[in-house]
Amino acid sequence: MSRTAAPGPSPAPEPPPAPESSTSPEPSTVPDRASAPAVSARGLTKVYGTGATPVRALDGLDVDFDRGAFTAIMGPSGSGKSTLMHCMAGLDTATSGSVRLGGTDITGLKDRQLTALRRERVGFVFQAFNLLPMLTAEQNILLPAQIAGRRVDTARFDHVVDAVGLRDRLGHLPAKLSGGQQQRVAVARALLGAPEVVYADEPTGNLDSRSGAEVLSFLRDSVRELGQTVVMVTHDPVAASYADRAVFLRDGRLVDDIAHPSTETVLDRLVHLED
Ligand SMILES: Nc1ncnc2c1ncn2[C@@H]1O[C@H](COP(=O)(O)OP(=O)(O)OP(=O)(O)O)[C@@H](O)[C@H]1O
Ligand SMILES: [Mg+2]
Repeated sequence: MSRTAAPGPSPAPEPPPAPESSTSPEPSTVPDRASAPAVSARGLTKVYGTGATPVRALDGLDVDFDRGAFTAIMGPSGSGKSTLMHCMAGLDTATSGSVRLGGTDITGLKDRQLTALRRERVGFVFQAFNLLPMLTAEQNILLPAQIAGRRVDTARFDHVVDAVGLRDRLGHLPAKLSGGQQQRVAVARALLGAPEVVYADEPTGNLDSRSGAEVLSFLRDSVRELGQTVVMVTHDPVAASYADRAVFLRDGRLVDDIAHPSTETVLDRLVHLED
């Protein structure tokens, strides 16, 4: 029941057309857009403060996040994980370097363009769920589409709602839902618009291990079944083991990168990072 990974009914700015000969029946040797990374950062630097003790939260970082992959970002507290995610999501601006989302260099965008980009092309899941308390689960899930004036794909809505097991909770207010259910609403909200990338910052940080495992399974299934791209910050080696890849930051730099992480391999790398 896999569905295509098209980045949604997106009226958002698309990358520039491929140079010439798009009508050629010859197989192209130029890598097509499907194989280009969903997000990439080059020389990304973020300095907080200008006084005697500026903090280099990101220090010339280069990284690519593959389309249709689930990547975990790990590293000690203060290593720059949230700063990286915020700069890649257009929530914060870098001091220097560049971030590309699909074909768009977001570094040079103005505030209004960044707002549109976040609304149209990015999904978010935060540690604190961030649901609106006066709206039902269903209204929360539909809210970003409503704000963006986007038509809702009802087949996708049904698929996402059933996948996260919320069918019988749609009419409930967040206060009537458990933490795990609230985070599943947030995951459904992030996935509904088929954004080019879903960013999750400690999505299981406030959940017990069983609810956390459910949320992680849904994120992983969205990658497998919907071709979603997911980038998740986590401290938890068990959470990272759900990902296809784990990258490790220290002092604002990428210092390690492993494919198919297991809880054990991640723990091992983290111990060495803390040395
Ligand atoms: N708004 C800010 N002003 C000043 N310094 C900041 C700001 N935000 C982050 N920093 C600093 O930048 C560095 C990186 O912070 P960041 O929040 O990205 O780390 P993190 O890896 O997400 O940490 P944690 O695991 O604790 O969430 C830290 O030294 C932090 O103190
Ligand atoms: Mg953080």
